[in-house]
Amino acid sequence: MNTTELIRSRRSVRSFDGAAPDKELLDDILRYAASVETPDSLPIEWRVLDAKAQKLSCPVITGTDSYIAGKLRREMHAEEAFGFAFERVVLYAVSKGLGTTWIAGTLDRPAFERAMELGEGEVMPCVSPLGRPAAKMSLRESMMRKGVKADSRLPFEELFFCGGFDTPLTPDKAGDVKEALEMVRLAPSAVNKQPWRAVVCGDTVHFYEKQGKGFVAANGWDIQKVDVGIALCHFVCAMEERGRKTVFTLADPSLPHPADTVYIASIQIG
Ligand SMILES: Cc1cc2nc3c(=O)[nH]c(=O)nc-3n(C[C@H](O)[C@H](O)[C@H](O)COP(=O)(O)O)c2cc1C
Repeated sequence: MNTTELIRSRRSVRSFDGAAPDKELLDDILRYAASVETPDSLPIEWRVLDAKAQKLSCPVITGTDSYIAGKLRREMHAEEAFGFAFERVVLYAVSKGLGTTWIAGTLDRPAFERAMELGEGEVMPCVSPLGRPAAKMSLRESMMRKGVKADSRLPFEELFFCGGFDTPLTPDKAGDVKEALEMVRLAPSAVNKQPWRAVVCGDTVHFYEKQGKGFVAANGWDIQKVDVGIALCHFVCAMEERGRKTVFTLADPSLPHPADTVYIASIQIG
């Protein structure tokens, strides 16, 4: 499967078949994770954890004890960097037939952070279970999906704009970036809020975060910036698949924007 097919086929999996994934496969995923570059080259340390042996609990997940988690230094752009890198790892795991779910909230966080040996100034933004999807979703899983309308996404023209926020971009006018923006649209996000917005200006796409209420922690950590990192990952993967080069820039174009929307990063297409 190519990356756009993986993005289209991925969904959060919370019910697994009970069989432990092969150790070689988990080692392979760890090796892949270690090779993933983040836009700012922020280093991330990855570990595979065993929930049974390490006494970790993640109440929404059934049928697997294997988890992957990453930790990095809490600094500027750490959220986007983590989102970008972990989504690459997620898509790689999906390509190997495994199910995954981004988990930031519904876990025994202190236990996972102990297992990750989280140091001063470090953050473990999210974890994901790894395992073979069960043949049938648990009732809890289907109810959770309904609760966040996990199978639907906002329309293209509500998320993407041409030249400025006052001109919605429709798929038929999106030309070269249509498929990549569609991949952004399909990305997973915390409680399916889809906080990414993008303005296409010539060969550059400026990405923004539409900030929802209650997503920024007291220490400033903003989980929705992780979501925008996932969106950037999908955009870059889709452009790479079309043989196009992408260059990250932090060059706020100072476009007028809605009050709840903040600039994150730009991608120039080569
Ligand atoms: C940053 C992030 C954090 C998330 N945290 C949780 C979580 O704590 N528990 C959970 O069950 N799902 C969590 N999710 C999964 C989302 O609910 C899910 O991606 C969204 O509803 C869309 O569904 P889909 O992944 O099946 O497309 C998280 C997703 C992201 C991207």
